[in-house]
Amino acid sequence: MKKISLPEHSELLSSEFIFGVATSSFQIEGAADQREPSIWDTFCQQQGRIKDGSDGLVACEHVLRWRDDVDLIASLGVDAYRFSIAWGRVIRANGSINEEGLAFYVNLVDALAALGISAHVTLYHWDLPQYLEDKGGWLNRETAHKFAEYAEVVAQALGDKVASYATLNEPFCSAYLSYEAGIHAPGVKDRKKGRQAAHNLLLAHGLAMPKLRKHAPNAEHGIVLNFSPCHPASDSAADRNAAAMAHAYHNLWYLQPILTGNYPDLLERLAAHERPEVAPGDMQIISQPIDFLGVNYYTRTVFRDKNDWFSDVPPTEPPLTTMGWEIYPEGLTEVLTDLQHTLGKLPPIYITENGAAFPDEVVNNRVHDEARIDYYNGHLLAVHRCIEKGVEVRGYFAWSLLDNFEWAEGYTQRFGIVHVDFDSQQRILKDSGRALRQFWQTRKLHTQVAEAL
Ligand code: FCB
Repeated sequence: MKKISLPEHSELLSSEFIFGVATSSFQIEGAADQREPSIWDTFCQQQGRIKDGSDGLVACEHVLRWRDDVDLIASLGVDAYRFSIAWGRVIRANGSINEEGLAFYVNLVDALAALGISAHVTLYHWDLPQYLEDKGGWLNRETAHKFAEYAEVVAQALGDKVASYATLNEPFCSAYLSYEAGIHAPGVKDRKKGRQAAHNLLLAHGLAMPKLRKHAPNAEHGIVLNFSPCHPASDSAADRNAAAMAHAYHNLWYLQPILTGNYPDLLERLAAHERPEVAPGDMQIISQPIDFLGVNYYTRTVFRDKNDWFSDVPPTEPPLTTMGWEIYPEGLTEVLTDLQHTLGKLPPIYITENGAAFPDEVVNNRVHDEARIDYYNGHLLAVHRCIEKGVEVRGYFAWSLLDNFEWAEGYTQRFGIVHVDFDSQQRILKDSGRALRQFWQTRKLHTQVAEAL
C-alpha cells in the first residue's frame, strides 16, 4: 500500500496545523422524517434531476449511527471534524425550535470534545428548508434574515464548544448551479436570479456574523468558498479574456465583496436587468472581517470564448476522476497565490474540502484505492507549497469521511476515505483511509514526543 508523505520539515507536520475529515448534513444524515423537507428532497422527487434517481432520505443513516461514526473519526487520529447542520432539523416551518434536532448536534459536539476532536461547523451546506423556498428561497432577501436567526439559535446552543463556524458552504453552488445553471436544487435557470441569489447569500453571511460573534466569542467565524483556476482553452486573446471573466464570475464574485466590499468590475458587463439588487448598506454588512477563509478545491477549469462571454471546455485527457474532473494539484497553489496577489494578504485559510471520486471496488473487505492516495499526496504537497509561497494555511480536511449522496450525481460517485455499502450500511476503511490514518497517527505521536521534550 502506498503511503502519505510530505517533505520532512513541512509546516503541515507541526502540531499547530489541523487535520480533519469533512461531511455535510444532507449527504449523510438520513432521518428525513425528523426534520423539515429541504429543497433537495423536492429536487430528488423530480424526474431526471438525479443521475440514479436516488434521494437523501436514508443516505448513510448517520443520525442513527453517529456514535459509531464518531468512533471511526477518532480512530483515524484526526484533530478535527467538519460537518454541517441541517437548518430544517433545527427550525420548524412554524418558526419554533426543534429541540430534539438541535440536541442531535449538541450531543455530537460533546462526543467529539470528549475524544479531543474539535468541531468545525458549517451552518448552510445547501439544504434550504423547502418552506423557505416556497417563499422565494435565496431570491427573497428575507431568507438572509431568517438565516441570521437560525445561526443565532445554533450559536446559542453550541457556543464556544465549536472551534469554527462557517456561515455558508460554496455560495457559488447555491447561487450559480442552483438558480442560474439549473443543475442543483431548486433547478432554476436565469442569470439575474443567479446573481440575486449570490447577493442574498452573501448578505445572509454578513447578517449572521455578528450573531455568531456574540454567542461564540472565542470561536473563529468565516465562510467556505470553492475556487478553481480558470485557464484559457487556447492562447487567443478571446479565450484569455474568457478565462479572466470566468475567474471573476466564479472565483472573485464571492471573495472580493467580503474582503473589499465591492463586486468585481465584471458586474458592469452584465445587462442592467441581470444585475443583482443591492440595498444601501448591504456591502458594509457583507464585508465585515472574517477570522478564516475555508477553501474547497477539487480541480481546474478551462474556458473558451463564446459570444464575448465564456463557456467551459470539459477535460478529456487523463488523469480524470469519475466526476470527469482533471487531477490538477498545482491549481490549488496557483489559485491561492493568485488570489493573494490580486486581493492582498488573505485571511488564515483552512482547506475545508479536497478529495476525489474513483471507481472503487471492494475485494475481500478491502478497497485498494491507490489513485486516491496519489491524489491526497499531490494535494498535500500543493498545500505545503502554498505555505512556502506565503499563503497562511492552517488546516486541511479530506472530503469525505464517507461515501455519500453526491447531489445531482446521486450515489454514483464515491468520495469517501471510508467505503459505505448503502444496502447494509457497512463501513470499510479504504486503503486511502488507512494511509491517511497511518500518517495522522504517526504525526500525532511525533508532535506529542516533541512537546514532551
Ligand atoms: C463540493 C461540495 C461537497 C461535495 C464535493 C464533491 O462542491 O461542497 O458537498 O459534493 O463538492
